Amino acid sequence: MTVIESTRVRLKQRIADVLAEDLIAVREELSRQFRSPSMFVRDVAEHVGRFQGKQIRPILLLLSSRISGIAGGHRRQAAMLAAVVEMIHAATLVHDDVIDDADLRRHVSTVHRRWNTETSVLFGDYLFSRAFHLAATTGDAEACRLIGRATNRTCEGELNQIGARLEQSLSERDYFRVVYGKTAQLFAVSCRLGARVGGASEALQSQLSQFGSRLGIAFQIADDVLDLTETAESTGKDSANDLANQRMTLPVLRALRLASADDREKIRGLLFSADPSDQQVLRESGLLQQGIESARQSCERFAERAVRCLRSFPDSEERLLLELVATYSAHRSE
Ligand code: IPE
Ligand code: IPE
Ligand code: MG
Ligand code: MG
Repeated sequence: MTVIESTRVRLKQRIADVLAEDLIAVREELSRQFRSPSMFVRDVAEHVGRFQGKQIRPILLLLSSRISGIAGGHRRQAAMLAAVVEMIHAATLVHDDVIDDADLRRHVSTVHRRWNTETSVLFGDYLFSRAFHLAATTGDAEACRLIGRATNRTCEGELNQIGARLEQSLSERDYFRVVYGKTAQLFAVSCRLGARVGGASEALQSQLSQFGSRLGIAFQIADDVLDLTETAESTGKDSANDLANQRMTLPVLRALRLASADDREKIRGLLFSADPSDQQVLRESGLLQQGIESARQSCERFAERAVRCLRSFPDSEERLLLELVATYSAHRSE
């Protein structure tokens, strides 16, 4: 085990210890939300819930509530909001897998492979609507507004990504706009909601939201690198799915920028080739190596910038854990 891997294992354990009761409450809320009188709905819910995922958004919400000094009486509210952000995340994944024509999610078949596209579309809608309903039962109208806004922006990010692919061109600026929408918004609102329920001032809520936003960008860049470097066994999802979808992720954009004119033509030719095996040729060619390295550096920079948003918080275990989550999100392999 490398130093990074063993630190990651220790971090997971520490988070599990610190947030143990809260994470149980979140899981209980999620299983309540997955209850349905329909056997078919229960089957799909059971399939989607079989593996938990990393739960980074609920963890960020709970740690943000702790660092803001949450009072005991508000812990249930925090667990409900944490379940809301995890359900919205799960809904985006179920829909995203249709968009990306993916086979595997969290080590099991995607919903549209196991059943069909209609089931994915409607089950994703079901998760969104149950999440908004649960948010409304907290009675916090401002929290509902924040959740609605973040979800709108997430969907806009996914739409902008499709728009860019149809044009076969994407600038780095466009890439960051997509990622800021599709990933950073949910990270930011998770931190903001935690800070809000924890009773933080408006200024501290904004700092935690900014932390989440920067971390979300680092997290997505890491994900885009893992798509090229990891196997399905370690991530639990299709490897090289972005390439199969001719997606201009940051490693590809950087490879294009750093390559010689000849190599740039080769990269574009293989990426946009109609022969699906050409995207695999590109992955194995080494033409993307410089781009992967450059994207990794940007990922680390965003994680460092995220950590800087925590400066106003006094030293505490929660602050340390948030810092570690940021650092290890940039060095993850799953
Ligand atoms: C996957 O999110 C989608 C991205 C934003 C990259 P996660 O990596 O958090 O997925 P799970 O919940 O752990 O499966
Ligand atoms: C999508 O990004 C993230 C969402 C907001 C749904 P990806 O398409 O890279 O996510 P994965 O790799 O399928 O998890
Ligand atoms: Mg995807
Ligand atoms: Mg991905």
